[in-house]
Amino acid sequence: MAATLPRYAVFGNPIAHSKSPQIHRQFALQEKVRIEYERILAEPGAFAEAAERFFAEGGLGANVTVPFKTDAYDWVSEHSERAEAAGAVNTIIPLGGGRFRGDNTDGVGLVSDITEAQETALKNRRILILGAGGAVRGVVPVLLQQQPADITIANRTETKARELAERFGVRSAPLNGLPAGRFDIIINGTSGGLGGEIPAVAPEVFGICELAYDMVYGAAAQAFLDYARRSGAKKTADGLGMLVGQAAFSYRLWRGFSPDIKPVIRYMKEAV
Ligand code: ATR
Repeated sequence: MAATLPRYAVFGNPIAHSKSPQIHRQFALQEKVRIEYERILAEPGAFAEAAERFFAEGGLGANVTVPFKTDAYDWVSEHSERAEAAGAVNTIIPLGGGRFRGDNTDGVGLVSDITEAQETALKNRRILILGAGGAVRGVVPVLLQQQPADITIANRTETKARELAERFGVRSAPLNGLPAGRFDIIINGTSGGLGGEIPAVAPEVFGICELAYDMVYGAAAQAFLDYARRSGAKKTADGLGMLVGQAAFSYRLWRGFSPDIKPVIRYMKEAV
């Protein structure tokens, strides 16, 4: 009988579209090992049950995506500092004895993509983040660690931007009152792109923008990135590199091996 391979999984709903199995397969090739990485569809409200089953059957680590990141946060026994700050868990590490640690690698995934793959420094830069939902809350603490000059959060619902900005000690501003030509890096963290919608930001806001970045990838990022380029952004990038980056940090937490993200981003770009 063949030996059982180390088993990992990503939980979500929907999950059929997830690129994580392909990405982790590339990491395993780099490490020269064989692993199994599957997609698990959990029903709303049934994350805990699905996770318990997976780990009882010998699972060695899991990723968690929409809509279960806060369920995962509640389910684990302990949190990393960055998961605590985000209030969300995207990586579960079994500790033994029925205990589990929850981490969040979304922020470091974003930062590693911007600084390594996009070769854009964050230190001393003025950063604008559009959106104030779960995706943004997950990355602000890690962006702050890069010592930007400042971070401004702008959101369609202004009160949410204000609340988040207060929580992290950064600035907030109304979407339609953003200053022209002030921001070096503009990150779209809204979910409107899935329906082809972009946040209502004046073109002048992109005046000196060196990098416009969308946290989603593929077609969902297209409208925002096209608008940013037309408005003067020098460079644009979708969130494929962030996806690979967060996966790489998860892989390292489970296996102690640090994958090189650049060749995997290139590989995934061709595959998408
Ligand atoms: P996620 O976990 O993906 O961040 P979320 O918590 O539902 O999802 O947050 C979605 C974010 O996208 C919010 O900031 C939302 O703005 P509101 O707080 O005003 O709802 C933003 N968003 C969604 N559709 C948008 C659109 N068409 N234009 C501008 N912002 C939009």
